[in-house]
Parts: sequence; C-alpha cells; structure tokens
Amino acid sequence: MKKTVLITGATKNTGLAIARKFASEGWNVAVTSRDRAAAEETAQALAAEFGVDALGLAMDPAEVPSIRAAFAALKDRFGRLDAFVSNAANLGVGFSVLNSEESDWDAVMNANARGSFFGAQEAQRLMKDGGSIVFISSCHAKKAVPGRALYTISKAAIGGMTRSLAVELGCLGIRVNAILAGAVRTDRWDGLSDEEVEKRRSRWPVGQESTPEQIAAAVAFLCSDAAGTISGAEIPIDSGIGVCLLAYNKNWIQNDPYNVKYWEKKMVK
Ligand SMILES: NC(=O)c1ccc[n+]([C@@H]2O[C@H](COP(=O)([O-])OP(=O)(O)OC[C@H]3O[C@@H](n4cnc5c(N)ncnc54)[C@H](OP(=O)(O)O)[C@@H]3O)[C@@H](O)[C@H]2O)c1
Repeated sequence: MKKTVLITGATKNTGLAIARKFASEGWNVAVTSRDRAAAEETAQALAAEFGVDALGLAMDPAEVPSIRAAFAALKDRFGRLDAFVSNAANLGVGFSVLNSEESDWDAVMNANARGSFFGAQEAQRLMKDGGSIVFISSCHAKKAVPGRALYTISKAAIGGMTRSLAVELGCLGIRVNAILAGAVRTDRWDGLSDEEVEKRRSRWPVGQESTPEQIAAAVAFLCSDAAGTISGAEIPIDSGIGVCLLAYNKNWIQNDPYNVKYWEKKMVK
C-alpha cells in the first residue's frame, strides 16, 4: 500500500522541497497553505511531475478548526496517514520582550506551537499502522538573538512537544522527532548581494547554508524504516552554528592570540 504524508506550509521553500522528496519516493502527498489555490496548484504540479496522488489543502496552522478541517479532507481522500511534517511557521521577526503585544504572542505561538500540537493530534488519529511525526524547528530553540523572543519561545516549545509526544505515542508505533534547522537557503536570499551571502557564511563553522533539499533528505530519513529506533530527538542541521559559544570567527586560527603559536607550529611542514 502506498504511504501518505501531509506537509504544512508546503507551496515553497523548505516545505515544497520536502513534498517533492516524498513525491519522488512515490508517496501520496498532501500539502497545505493558507491559500487554497496555491496548495491545489502545488498538488497538481507534484502529481504531474511525479505521477503520485497529491492533494492541496487550505489550512491556517494558527486556527484549530482549520487544522481539523484539513485533516478531515485528508481522511476523505486517503483514509490514513503515515507521516506528518509540521513545517509552516510564523518567523516572528522583530518581536522582542520590549515591544511584543498580546496579539503578537498569539500569532507566533498559535501558528508554531499550537498549530504543531493540534496538527500532531489529528495526525496520530489517522496513523493506523504507526507512523512518523517531524517538527521543523530551529537552532533558535536552543539559543537566543535579540528581536526573536517569541519565535525562540515557540520553537523551544517544540522541544517539549517532541519529547512528550514521543513518550505518549510510542505505544502506537508513532515516532516523533524535530529538526533544528540553521540557515536554509530560501527565496528570501534571492535579493542578497554576493558580499552579504559571504558575510552570512563566514558566521558558521561549515561556511555554507543548508539547502531545502538537505532538510528534506533528513525528514525522509526520519520517516523511513532506517530511522526506526529514533524518537524524541532534536537533530541539528545548522552548519555548526548551534555549538558555537561565541560569535563564530572563521579567521580564528590567524587571530586568536591563545592559539596562533600552537597552530603555526602544527602547520609548518
Ligand atoms: N529558512 C531558514 O533559514 C530557517 C532556519 C531555521 C528554521 N527554519 C524553519 O523551517 C521551516 C520552513 O522555513 P522556510 O524558511 O522554508 O519557510 P517559509 O517559506 O518562510 O514559511 C513556510 C510556510 O509557513 C507559512 N507561514 C508563513 N508565515 C505564516 C504565519 N504568519 N502564520 C501561519 N503560517 C505562516 C507559509 O505558508 P502559506 O503562506 O502557504 O500558508 C509559508 O509558505 C519553518 O518552520 C522555519 O521556522 C527555517
């Protein structure tokens, strides 16, 4: 029997790459968007390119009735679910403790935390033979930068959700994991100058942002039998930013007074 996956916020960027990955592996694919026409257009394109059964669903992750309606439509079409990927997010740019209103809190927390929780609740009801739930979280779940407090809080909540649901759903054969994404190359990079791209890359040990396809490959792995004993994990795919204690300096070997002599010795042939 063909497997079925639902991915939220999947008409572009990371979500679309995840949908394409599953479609390329022959899964039935349901994609959601707050824009019904965009979701249906994406589903049609996936069906045409990969020859799979694809369904476009209107869904606002901040609204529980909207989530429930989308899953009801999924049940009507496919009757079951094998994987759920909660990808849609309010990026919460500029919401700090200094300026956030109650409505800002609701907008970010409802889309990211409440939406992921009630999406997972609906998903597990359709996972008749077990399944896999993957939350696309962020390195912001573990570390903070100014101006992203609400986003950080919402993604930190995903950590508790991952652990709680892994424990509660394990007995149903459902595994629950999260990906802590670092910088991912999306359409927001399109207008950047080469200098700005280089500046960004210089801040990460790996010196390169992730592609949406790299995130998608990890999601597909987590939903495969090869990951059959992985549950409750938050897996960083973040170019190494998550392990930096201080701002990363790619010239540290040359500039760090405590290490330069040691490294000069090491590097002399
Ligand atoms: N891009 C990065 O560098 C990066 C880094 C770390 C983590 N992440 C995480 O990776 C996931 C995907 O990121 P991305 O950059 O590829 O996504 P994105 O394109 O910015 O957003 C994904 C989808 O989320 C929905 N969305 C956007 N704003 C929303 C809002 N205010 N309320 C409800 N839904 C909203 C949109 O779907 P519709 O408009 O179609 O409804 C959008 O297509 C997110 O969970 C994000 O937090 C991304």
